[in-house]
Amino acid sequence: MLIVKEVSKTYNSHVVLKEINLELKKGVLGIVGPNGSGKSTLLKIIAGLEKPTCGRVLFRDKDITKLSANKRVEYGIVYTFQIPKPFYRLTVLENVAVSCMVRGKKGVKERALKICRMIGIEHLADRKANVLSQGELKLLELTKVIATEPEIILLDEPFAALDKENARIVKDRLLEFKRMGYKMMITAHRFRILKDVADKFIEVKEGRIR
Ligand SMILES: Nc1ncnc2c1ncn2[C@@H]1O[C@H](COP(=O)(O)OP(=O)(O)OP(=O)(O)O)[C@@H](O)[C@H]1O
Ligand SMILES: [Mg+2]
Repeated sequence: MLIVKEVSKTYNSHVVLKEINLELKKGVLGIVGPNGSGKSTLLKIIAGLEKPTCGRVLFRDKDITKLSANKRVEYGIVYTFQIPKPFYRLTVLENVAVSCMVRGKKGVKERALKICRMIGIEHLADRKANVLSQGELKLLELTKVIATEPEIILLDEPFAALDKENARIVKDRLLEFKRMGYKMMITAHRFRILKDVADKFIEVKEGRIR
């Protein structure tokens, strides 16, 4: 179980999150809210990419507030950026292989290929990441996430900047992840896009849960 306890975040004197409390035991939590409401900051604090000004993050009864993002990936908490950030000079397969290495070097190429097949991007395996379309980049991002063998996936606006067709493809993958038992937190501006995927929702507004 993941618990966020009394988390606040201030940048300089700008208060972005105010005493946030939430829990994720199972399933998919949708986090909605307008631009600048603090959704990404909240996910980044859980992922260890930002430090809270105060409050704690607990995972499996352990305080992980001070753990690095890399250590949290090893623990099973992985974050996907709003804008995909693959290694652009590497191929798709190499990118996925790098993520697989979190769980050891043995059979990395085979493991990477298997996950590419599962997500349906094996036809892109030898292509450099810098030639991929927006939709393909999103799928690569999801493939890299699964390659780390996570328990909790934090998805920051997975539907942003996608056309209808690609949004549908990404949604199908997320529904598949849900069926496979991955726990997820997903941000979006609106409820509508998440309504088929999320089991529960919270709304973040001016740094508080409404
Ligand atoms: N590194 C930073 N330094 C200073 N201010 C920041 C930083 N990161 C975020 N902020 C500010 O914190 C507030 C919340 O940002 P955040 O990105 O968490 O919002 P969001 O809900 O994800 O917005 P969006 O829907 O546009 O993605 C914004 O006012 C933003 O300008
Ligand atoms: Mg954001």
